[in-house]
Amino acid sequence: MIESKKVSKVLYGGDYNPEQWPEEIWEEDMRLFKEAKIDVVTLNVFSWAMIQPNEEKYDFSKLDKIMKLVKKNNINVCMATSTAAHPAWMARKYDDILRVEKNGMKRRFGSRHNSCPNSPTYRKFASKLVEKLAKRYKDYDNIVAWHVSNEYGGECYCDNCVKAFRKWAQERYGTIEKVNDAWNMSFWGHTLYDFDDIVPADFRSEEFMAWDRERSCFQGISLDYKRFNSDSMLECFKLERDILKKITPEIPVTTNLMGWYKTLDYMKWAKEMDFVSWDNYPGFDTKTSDTAAIHDTMRGLKGGKPFCLMEQTPGVTNWHPYCKLKRPGVMRLWSYQALAHGSDTVMFFQMRRSQGASEKYHSAVIDHVGTNETRVFNEIKELGIELEEIGSEFLGTRTNSKVAIVFDWENWWACELSAGPSILINYINEISSYYRALYTQNISVDIIGVDDDISKYSLVIAPMLYMNKSGYDDRIRRYVENGGNYITSFFSGYVDENDKVLLGGYPGKQKDILGIWVEESDALTEEESNSFIYKGTEYPSKIVCDIIHLRGGREISTYEKDFYSGTPVLTENKLGNGRAFYVGTHSSDEFYSTFLRDICQELFIEPVLNAPRDVEVTCRENEENKYIFILNHKDEGTEVRIKKSGTNILTGEIFMADDIVKLEKKGVAIIKSKK
Ligand code: GLA
Ligand code: ZN
Repeated sequence: MIESKKVSKVLYGGDYNPEQWPEEIWEEDMRLFKEAKIDVVTLNVFSWAMIQPNEEKYDFSKLDKIMKLVKKNNINVCMATSTAAHPAWMARKYDDILRVEKNGMKRRFGSRHNSCPNSPTYRKFASKLVEKLAKRYKDYDNIVAWHVSNEYGGECYCDNCVKAFRKWAQERYGTIEKVNDAWNMSFWGHTLYDFDDIVPADFRSEEFMAWDRERSCFQGISLDYKRFNSDSMLECFKLERDILKKITPEIPVTTNLMGWYKTLDYMKWAKEMDFVSWDNYPGFDTKTSDTAAIHDTMRGLKGGKPFCLMEQTPGVTNWHPYCKLKRPGVMRLWSYQALAHGSDTVMFFQMRRSQGASEKYHSAVIDHVGTNETRVFNEIKELGIELEEIGSEFLGTRTNSKVAIVFDWENWWACELSAGPSILINYINEISSYYRALYTQNISVDIIGVDDDISKYSLVIAPMLYMNKSGYDDRIRRYVENGGNYITSFFSGYVDENDKVLLGGYPGKQKDILGIWVEESDALTEEESNSFIYKGTEYPSKIVCDIIHLRGGREISTYEKDFYSGTPVLTENKLGNGRAFYVGTHSSDEFYSTFLRDICQELFIEPVLNAPRDVEVTCRENEENKYIFILNHKDEGTEVRIKKSGTNILTGEIFMADDIVKLEKKGVAIIKSKK
């Protein structure tokens, strides 16, 4: 939708469920949407039960009316396919559509995102429904995108899935001997004789819970089951997408992702989607840097192409432990944060607050009071007017970063599945620590996959990249030899794709790149820490302390305590024209900030602007213009000095080079400059 010719402004709207309401209300909705400058609605997200009341019958009469009404009111449609929750009759009649949980519990009808992805029944009915929808509504020129299903997620361990997993393994490995080898099945005498011996790793077989965490006796099987489960759902997406593409080839297809959602490998998913869209629900205590990092991850999924903010709450959610109100100005600020990081839309869940069931206390554009009198409605309306005035400015523009952070879903699964070295191993925590250090200095970052091109970056950071996929070290070696700068951290480079250790000492194939050998790793409890001195300041060493031997590299800092006191913790290796750094522990925000600031300075990587703490600055650009987004997350006013002359497109105010831009508490400025 974001690249569609029909779109000439930031689309503004969200999930609309008129089928939950009597028709008299619909006209009132339209009136309020107009008032708030809403110009897109996501329809038909959970309407399967309405459209197909039984196996033989399809009834589109209500959806026809809704489509006509929306069209008459010049509102665009993001058209969902309704396949994220199956109807009751289907569950009663065909129990193979019901999922089985990891503990073996067979689900009954209820909740949503509840269909087995490998159920032939589910796939058959989903395909039929999608074909009918596409054929029926294909001539509506206000459909700007297809929204397949909704927030694909969860896992299934039913018999359909067991059968499909065996087939998947056969396709991947060919012979059972290769499976045994990949999963290291000679351990504990688990050798398999036949593909039919394969069972998924669940709580009945290889997996168990320890210290509140999922653990696996055979990480190879667990990893492959995660891959398979993600692939199975992706197959469902592709099935629908292919039908839609056949009937309406010009309408882009997406599905709403969930940011750092661990269960699905979004790097793989994004390749199948026309554009990325995602649902952003930060808690009141979520760090703004984490939200920024997730936006950047979503942008990175499609090589920097703009994405779509498909959902956010206008006010409260109902599913956080404490459903705090978004303070005045925060909805606007966070909407601009999405735009600042590459979104081309601002969309909400939901347009009208439902009367009953799960989400009755979830905020909406139109609240239970049903009028335009609420604070939330008025903030939405003000933003709507502002976005209308902005028009097509910055749509389609890109971010130009010199720093990349490598993020990989399979690595995330792997590094947290193994027993050892510590229960505190947390991939997201490592990623966020490095990201935050750059974010607080307003240094632009791309978050990219392990296979993405890194040649354009001056600095590539791969925190805790435990899994060295085939060819990865070769690409890093070449990058560094050609003058690139690489940073990686403890628990990196240990294993191959199947979680088999790369022998010959850690970090496996990266030893020569980093000029080190890690002999052992010591785990520290949450309360414990070691320390090291970097450029005269002492910083803590937490979670894991790698005991490092230099093998061509040089030490920058050494441990201060314990039997490994005096041995390296932070190292640098020169290789060809570049450098590779190793951070053998987890440290503090202060350390990461200082260390990355130093490296960025050496590489002439500059902040977009220098700004006070909690003031975020990003830049989107095209061939002619730069748009500097300045976001004040503070609870007080602030001032930021800009570098180049430009105009604040939100106020029309003109600024000269080196002028000060003043922002109110939670305020936003977008300074447009000629390039
Ligand atoms: C998700 C779903 C929506 C809704 C919201 C509530 O993002 O896609 O249907 O449940 O959460 O926050
Ligand atoms: Zn299943």
